[in-house]
Amino acid sequence: MPRLHNKIVLITGAARGQGAAEARLFVREGARVVITDVLEAQGRQLAEELGKDVAVFLRHDVASEADWLQAVAAADALGGLHGLINNAGIFQPRTLMETDTALFEQHIRINQLGPFLGMKAVVPLMERCGGGAIVNVSSVAGLRGSPGAIAYSATKWALRGMTKAAAIDLAPRKIRVNSIHPGPIDTPMLEVRTPEQNQRRLQAVPMKRMGTPEEVADLVLFLISDESRYITGAEVAIDGGATL
Ligand SMILES: NC(=O)c1ccc[n+]([C@@H]2O[C@H](COP(=O)([O-])OP(=O)(O)OC[C@H]3O[C@@H](n4cnc5c(N)ncnc54)[C@H](O)[C@@H]3O)[C@@H](O)[C@H]2O)c1
Repeated sequence: MPRLHNKIVLITGAARGQGAAEARLFVREGARVVITDVLEAQGRQLAEELGKDVAVFLRHDVASEADWLQAVAAADALGGLHGLINNAGIFQPRTLMETDTALFEQHIRINQLGPFLGMKAVVPLMERCGGGAIVNVSSVAGLRGSPGAIAYSATKWALRGMTKAAAIDLAPRKIRVNSIHPGPIDTPMLEVRTPEQNQRRLQAVPMKRMGTPEEVADLVLFLISDESRYITGAEVAIDGGATL
């Protein structure tokens, strides 16, 4: 039996990278998916590739409360909602002294306010569907100090704390909330650094390689499926040992 048989899952920032890998895997596991992103052409192309019976794309800025209403309505139109992956994020690494208020606030709006709005928005529909699971995509930058990325780190530490607070709040509603903490994963997000810089950073990874979006998708599948039904408020690193 496919592990997400008859489930509907909303994935933010899913036009590419980890979110797109999750959409592909979840559909193979029997789910229908709402793919959302601000990248419209790539998002629509992915939905077409997956097939209109199992995937819909919606332009959705996670920092917009109004857009969240539309995203939940799209899931409702598909028949309900059982999973949310708060995956959308930005990474513009700057040191403390290089970071201005605008850059700090931009990270907060997308990486922190976005998942807050998302968790709130999905609860009524998930509850009507008998409960569900939320996965918040934090980072190893939410587990330890991260060089030259103060705004990003602030939001990823916040998301880790928000996950635990929400896990307690939502347990009575049968909604589980967990966070994942990827190390370097081979997606367009890391193109802000040169290939040489990315290679140098791998020295600090015991497994000496980047992770793939598909490896992250396997973990998220576990956390969204009933196989993890007694796990909530947990933080799972997927980082080749980088935080050991
Ligand atoms: N790649 C890594 O090394 C790495 C490591 C740790 C954590 N992460 C986290 O993983 C998640 C997925 O990133 P990825 O690696 O797939 O990178 P990515 O850049 O390929 O994907 C991020 C997606 O988020 C979307 N997005 C950005 N702002 C948005 C907004 N306002 N509303 C909706 N969507 C928006 C982007 O368009 C993009 O498609 C992010 O939260 C990121 O912080 C990535």
